[in-house]
Amino acid sequence: MVIRIRKPYVIAEKGDHKFVWLGLDEVEAERGILTNQYLIVDSDEGILIDPGGQYVFERVYKNVSNFVQPENVKAVFFSHQDPDVVGSLIMISDFFPNASIYVSSLWIRFLPHLGVITGVDMVEIPDEGLNIRVGNAILKAIPAHFLHSPGNFSLYDPIVRVLFSGDIGAAVFPEGVWYLFVDDFREHVKYMEAFHRRYIPTKRAIELWLKRVGELDIDVIAPQHGAIFVGENARKLLEWLRSLDAVGVDAMGEV
Ligand SMILES: [Fe+2]
Ligand SMILES: [Fe+2]
Repeated sequence: MVIRIRKPYVIAEKGDHKFVWLGLDEVEAERGILTNQYLIVDSDEGILIDPGGQYVFERVYKNVSNFVQPENVKAVFFSHQDPDVVGSLIMISDFFPNASIYVSSLWIRFLPHLGVITGVDMVEIPDEGLNIRVGNAILKAIPAHFLHSPGNFSLYDPIVRVLFSGDIGAAVFPEGVWYLFVDDFREHVKYMEAFHRRYIPTKRAIELWLKRVGELDIDVIAPQHGAIFVGENARKLLEWLRSLDAVGVDAMGEV
């Protein structure tokens, strides 16, 4: 495999506000599923989104440091409890000493099993969601329960109209395929389909989320795996999710 290091990319910006994709080293695919991490910076303060596991942390930390002082990272957002989201938790307090960690109230008591995290400010996100202030920006944790985790949130940035969707819209690329932005939506579906049909337990969860995000102005949808949806492709993703006939228990049948 050709090892490719991808540099961070500013997806959207307005004044001193930036929404950043935190780069990638394609060799990471040999260790586990590829993950996207994001950073929002506003007025020199940052929020790190789904930082990922231990083996990506060095890359994440280095790339965060290019945009904001690590001590000015005031928040870390965990969309849910999976290892590809929370795996680096024990490093976070050392490297981002002033960050509060935001996670679903369902998962907060499970996280100490990852290691000693005393002295870290852990903030429960209630089922109905939460506003998170970073710099002068107010970001919105939007309920996305059962997509796929039972305590799960998307994060909406109203300043640049970017929705971090977590595992919703996730794509799993085969070896040799990678791109940052979706170009041909129809072609991209084949990398999303299996994940959504198996990991999302019920269509009802999709319908509830679509109703919530339908009230938002969205220019970009940025998932935790795979490629980013801009403009028309963001709208196509929502349509595709609406069109999924059976997921989870209804798609799986007996094994
Ligand atoms: Fe997950
Ligand atoms: Fe994930």
